[in-house]
Amino acid sequence: MRVEVRDLRKSYDKEVLNIKELSFKEGRITAIVGPNGSGKSTLLNIIATTLNKDEGEVLYDQKAKAPLSQMTIVFQKPYLFDASVRSNLSYPLKIRHIPKETIEKEVQKIAASLNITDLLKKNAHDLSIGEKAKVSLARALIFKPELLLLDEPCASLDPFTTSEIEKTLGFINQKEKTTIILITHDLGEAKRIADEMVLLNKGRVVSKNSKEAFFKDEDPLVKKFINGELLI
Ligand SMILES: Nc1ncnc2c1ncn2[C@@H]1O[C@H](COP(=O)(O)OP(=O)(O)OP(=O)(O)O)[C@@H](O)[C@H]1O
Ligand SMILES: [Mg+2]
Repeated sequence: MRVEVRDLRKSYDKEVLNIKELSFKEGRITAIVGPNGSGKSTLLNIIATTLNKDEGEVLYDQKAKAPLSQMTIVFQKPYLFDASVRSNLSYPLKIRHIPKETIEKEVQKIAASLNITDLLKKNAHDLSIGEKAKVSLARALIFKPELLLLDEPCASLDPFTTSEIEKTLGFINQKEKTTIILITHDLGEAKRIADEMVLLNKGRVVSKNSKEAFFKDEDPLVKKFINGELLI
């Protein structure tokens, strides 16, 4: 799904987002990077429609109406229902009226691919942070969304779990042609899985480029960010 953002503005006590034009390519993985507070989550939540914009528009395949049944967001703080992991994973299929037997098959499949089969009976609230992150991702992937929005899916995960999640995202992107927009603070992760890069600073787009071009960019602000220096 192609996503386009135009003349987007969002303010609280001050302006936190001001984007003239930004588009996300269909079937690609775009990483949004930028300092803390630069507006990454605000942008992702506006695209997800979980947050209202003040001005501007977001187009999904050139339409203003968000195709909610074909898209999903995994929030920065995973929220899971106070129920078993199996119920959490089944939910997106249940509300789509998928037959019970198919649901159980899909639950088993996604659980196996993320190595969480042993957790199916556990209550989601009892899981560790890493386990919660995997279950949240599994719940997002189970209905094969066309647009997947991920807010720091690998934050505070160990290298092995990070690698499991990155491989799953790469696989899903290849197999289902899912458009993925993910926020990350890990430039190594962006290098490993992204096709495209967006750098935000103070609510504005500083750079939007292919990954290859981004990491070679001579722009002083982009170079500073890549080198881990403070942006002003
Ligand atoms: N509900 C809110 N009320 C007031 N200010 C808010 C609210 N939500 C976000 N902000 C402000 O908007 C700005 C952008 O926040 P946002 O969460 O989008 O940043 P971010 O780039 O995702 O940061 P991080 O990397 O820390 O997650 C910040 O200055 C934040 O304080
Ligand atoms: Mg954030």
